[in-house]
Amino acid sequence: MTSLREVGLRRNGLAAVVINENDCVTTLDLPASIDELQQRLLALDYVADRQLTTAVFLALKLQRPLFLEGEPGTGKTEIARTLSAMLGRELIRLQCYEGLDLAGAAYEWNYGRQMLEIRLAEAAREAAGAAGEHARRDALAAELFSSKFLIKRALLQAIDPARSVPPVLLIDELDRADEPFEAFLLEVLSEFQITIPELGTVRAVTPPIVVLTSNRTREIHDAVKRRCLYHWVAFPDAARELQVLQRRVPGVAQGLAQQIVAFVQRLRQVELYKQPGIAETIEWARALMQLDALVLDPAVIQDTLGVLLKYQDDIARMQGGEAARLLEEVRSAARAAV
Ligand SMILES: Nc1ncnc2c1ncn2[C@@H]1O[C@H](COP(=O)(O)OP(=O)(O)OP(=O)(O)O)[C@@H](O)[C@H]1O
Ligand SMILES: [Mg+2]
Repeated sequence: MTSLREVGLRRNGLAAVVINENDCVTTLDLPASIDELQQRLLALDYVADRQLTTAVFLALKLQRPLFLEGEPGTGKTEIARTLSAMLGRELIRLQCYEGLDLAGAAYEWNYGRQMLEIRLAEAAREAAGAAGEHARRDALAAELFSSKFLIKRALLQAIDPARSVPPVLLIDELDRADEPFEAFLLEVLSEFQITIPELGTVRAVTPPIVVLTSNRTREIHDAVKRRCLYHWVAFPDAARELQVLQRRVPGVAQGLAQQIVAFVQRLRQVELYKQPGIAETIEWARALMQLDALVLDPAVIQDTLGVLLKYQDDIARMQGGEAARLLEEVRSAARAAV
């Protein structure tokens, strides 16, 4: 079996996963500096700017949850995946949705198994007669609400004290959950614990690395934000977007990549219902390569707008020569820069 040490070292040449005598990952596997963290993320093709790297670094060092809010498709979810790979830790993902509750996020009792246990106890009682009835009932009640009958969902799995290696817990798109759900999170985020009325308090031995994301379709309550370090993930500047493209779409020609980035950057200045994220830029580059495009031209842009823009109103806005006009602007800016 591959040891955690090997996984950590293989995934990232710079990672130094250290396991102590109790097989616990110590904090020594964490990066020692912001520069080191940036390099380690880059080694896994995640291009982080200084501010994001600092926020991640502090979250790791201070053992505080990291709350990432920002534009869609700008790497909020990806950073949690990358941290999990970089540190050789399991990624536990809680995808939020409308109607998500404690049962879906933290735990629920396994009613089916509990019922079965009750039936078995009844059958045993009938066979044994009434003697010792009270004691049996108390023992059964205690048994029914023991961890044997508990179904652990993401939040509880992440703080399981039996874990030797704390995971990365991703609470993704919190703005999709209903507001009352946020109250469930407060105990997890500040104490890394969950109180189960029938069982007691379950607390992580070592806190998980927690990343929360939101697309800001609604404001997240202050009480959640206060327990986290906050960072706004903006669209990247042209240099960083080009770097992302080169890493994520190997084989893309330098000239085409530069044109793609310049065009997308210019497109984001247009008033659109939904601006394209880095994810769309990557997808567009892949699409253009499939079409053997070597440079951008108005026709190929027009034909592939659906890769970049996902609303008909936005696509309609780019028709009637608008895309060609933006491309001309981008070309003349490139000529001026030479
Ligand atoms: N900084 C980055 N470095 C490298 N790749 C990136 C970066 N940001 C985004 N990407 C790429 O874009 C893709 C989309 O990123 P991700 O899913 O993390 O965005 P998101 O911010 O979570 O979007 P959404 O809000 O829609 O969920 C990733 O799979 C990755 O390929
Ligand atoms: Mg996401």
